[in-house]
Amino acid sequence: MQPIQIVPDIYDVGVQDWAVRDFHGYKTERGATYNSYLIMDEKITLVDTVKAPFAEELLRNIGQVVEPEKIDYIIINHVEPDHSGAMPALAKACPNAKFIITMAGKNEAIQHYGDIFNFEVVKDGASLSIGKRNLVFAMMTMLHWPDNMATYCPEEKLLFSNDAFGEHYATSKRFDDEVDRAELFYEARKYFANILWPYARLVGKALTKVGGLDIAMIAPSHGVVWRTYIQEIVDCYAKWGQGVSDGSLVIAYDSMWGGTEKMARAIAQGAQKAGVVVKVFKLSQTPNSTIAAEIFTASGFLVGSPTLNCGMMPSMGALLTYLKGLCPTGKKCAAFGTFGWAGGAQKDMEEMLGKFCSEMLPGHNCKWTPQEPNLQAAEQFGYDFAKSLQA
Ligand code: FEO
Repeated sequence: MQPIQIVPDIYDVGVQDWAVRDFHGYKTERGATYNSYLIMDEKITLVDTVKAPFAEELLRNIGQVVEPEKIDYIIINHVEPDHSGAMPALAKACPNAKFIITMAGKNEAIQHYGDIFNFEVVKDGASLSIGKRNLVFAMMTMLHWPDNMATYCPEEKLLFSNDAFGEHYATSKRFDDEVDRAELFYEARKYFANILWPYARLVGKALTKVGGLDIAMIAPSHGVVWRTYIQEIVDCYAKWGQGVSDGSLVIAYDSMWGGTEKMARAIAQGAQKAGVVVKVFKLSQTPNSTIAAEIFTASGFLVGSPTLNCGMMPSMGALLTYLKGLCPTGKKCAAFGTFGWAGGAQKDMEEMLGKFCSEMLPGHNCKWTPQEPNLQAAEQFGYDFAKSLQA
């Protein structure tokens, strides 16, 4: 991609990763971008870098604006390799550059790449003059790593927010008002659910810092630049940070011979009769990260598995392990399924749910393949569970 000026003399020189579909387990159906911003001021400054395989492309993009060796400062808002992977290449290509970073970030970067950088450590509220502009650093600790910070340029009213306000969303257009709004906000929600949910309680504190700033543009390190829907995305973060329960129900199941699938469909029918919006996902067909994005806004979720070799299906184990990591608080949950003789899936699922679900209700089971009375009982189970979400 050509460097794009987001405001005069500030360029997005980052890259589109059109091909990526798996971001450490997060399925990125629309790809991803690793944004990097070049500020052409008296001190030439780069804000964030890109994933290692794209280092050459980053340097080529920078080279269309300025020779990389003229860069004075490289701001490292976050050391996760999708943003820091090009640091070693930049250390070679920009021999005079100082890497501006938090203390936690410095320690992490040395452990990732070796002690090869000219670091300047900054603290919360520190500022750096780069000529006509200043950069002010705001710690965003544990959103979502210990090192996270954001960088604010008061002269441009521009916040370089790194992971916050990002989406995994590869687009050739670079601004929020140039892409499909529903797609954009879906990807922003999915990103929050899969990356920031475990730390959601810290979002309010971060927004207090952001709320004190005069912001005309938010330039994250993933996805598009916000210039039109700033208030909307900040409002979403405020809401998502507090936890969302929209009344809906998610049913996630897997099936061996169709019995648990029949149960899931009957349960969904019961929930529909109760007037609840229900979304049903078969694990063999749906990525865990997509299901997590729906559970994130739902009021409750049900998980269903037949018994396989005295336990739940491995696909259900994977979903529940993924969810446990996201700490999905504030949801009602229960397990259901089918079994042949000894059972075991129900126990496995409830043991896992017990580790993270705030309110687990009694589950529902059926021996072998559900027949009409079993389906009616499953429908009633779905109806009752859905009613409990309305209570
Ligand atoms: Fe986009 Fe936490 O890295």
